[in-house]
Amino acid sequence: MNKTLEVKNLYQQFNLSSNIFDKYKLKSGKIVREEKIVHAVNGINFEIEQGNVFSLVGESGCGKSTTARTIIKLLQPKKGQIIFDGQDITNLTGKEMLPIRRNMQMIFQDPFASLNPRYKIKNIVMEPILFHNPKLTVKEAEKEALELLEIVGIRPEQKNRYPHQFSGGQRQRIGVARALAVRPKLIIADEPVSALDVSIQAQILNLLMDLKDEFNLSYLFIAHDLSVVKHISDEIGVMYLGKIVEKAKKKDLFNNPKHPYTKLLLSSIPTINEDPLAEPVEIIGEIPSPINLPKGCYFNDRCAYAMDICREKEPIEKEIENKHFTSCHLY
Ligand SMILES: Nc1ncnc2c1ncn2[C@@H]1O[C@H](COP(=O)(O)OP(=O)(O)OP(=O)(O)O)[C@@H](O)[C@H]1O
Ligand SMILES: [Mg+2]
Repeated sequence: MNKTLEVKNLYQQFNLSSNIFDKYKLKSGKIVREEKIVHAVNGINFEIEQGNVFSLVGESGCGKSTTARTIIKLLQPKKGQIIFDGQDITNLTGKEMLPIRRNMQMIFQDPFASLNPRYKIKNIVMEPILFHNPKLTVKEAEKEALELLEIVGIRPEQKNRYPHQFSGGQRQRIGVARALAVRPKLIIADEPVSALDVSIQAQILNLLMDLKDEFNLSYLFIAHDLSVVKHISDEIGVMYLGKIVEKAKKKDLFNNPKHPYTKLLLSSIPTINEDPLAEPVEIIGEIPSPINLPKGCYFNDRCAYAMDICREKEPIEKEIENKHFTSCHLY
């Protein structure tokens, strides 16, 4: 199988002490260097096979968007390697990334923020078409844009409207059409349905899946909770504090979760067959600060099974069954 994306030991951090006064502090008469660093992504590994959907799931602040923005090189990785379609893009400059971005597009949570409010929607979709195909005439580009809008369910007679004249679901469809306009191989969808009503969420997810087959796409799909990715994923990575703590084929992750955090996430999904009076399990405590990473396993202070070793030693990722990985001292 061809791999669309390989992410190897990827790290990303943000230095909050950017000016000299933040960097040096006076402590008991001495000047000491004290930097505040947010360790947002802490050594993650995964691959996406061509035509597959890999989902990253985890609580707010665990580093999902930072991972996405690093992969598409809006941020330069701190460490690690990103291989896209066989090419190492880790150290490419912004200019060198331009032709790559044609093959790697992003869809955002809030389509309103990513659509130019002063452009008619036909122009929003035409813009990337013309940018990447400078030989096309405006007329040809418009024809293509209207075809794409129709594919995502926006009628051609709506072409001269502006983004604010559409509903949230329709705006997300326009964002999808724009991403498709350059015929990418990989779409990174960062919580594309989180801002939408539940009834609309399913429509957009179905649209994304239909397009996957029609355009032979791979997806990196980002979501807060496992229920959203249940139907669409081939593989899932569960993220916690900048690490993937468990990674498996969807069926294995849902039927046979290994990591205590995955089990918690799964038990917090309400299901139809469940006792209707039972409250969903709440995940206790908060995700620790990525500025001061915990010693040992990052999950130890919230884990019901934590042993002494979990507070001392960071677990390494192990393949415990075929293509089923977890980082946990229980295994
Ligand atoms: N530009 C930045 N400067 C400093 N810290 C940042 C920056 N961007 C993100 N962070 C921090 O990095 C960590 C990871 O953030 P990120 O946005 O990747 O999380 P997320 O998993 O996408 O969360 P959410 O589900 O809320 O979107 C957080 O602690 C966040 O505060
Ligand atoms: Mg995010």
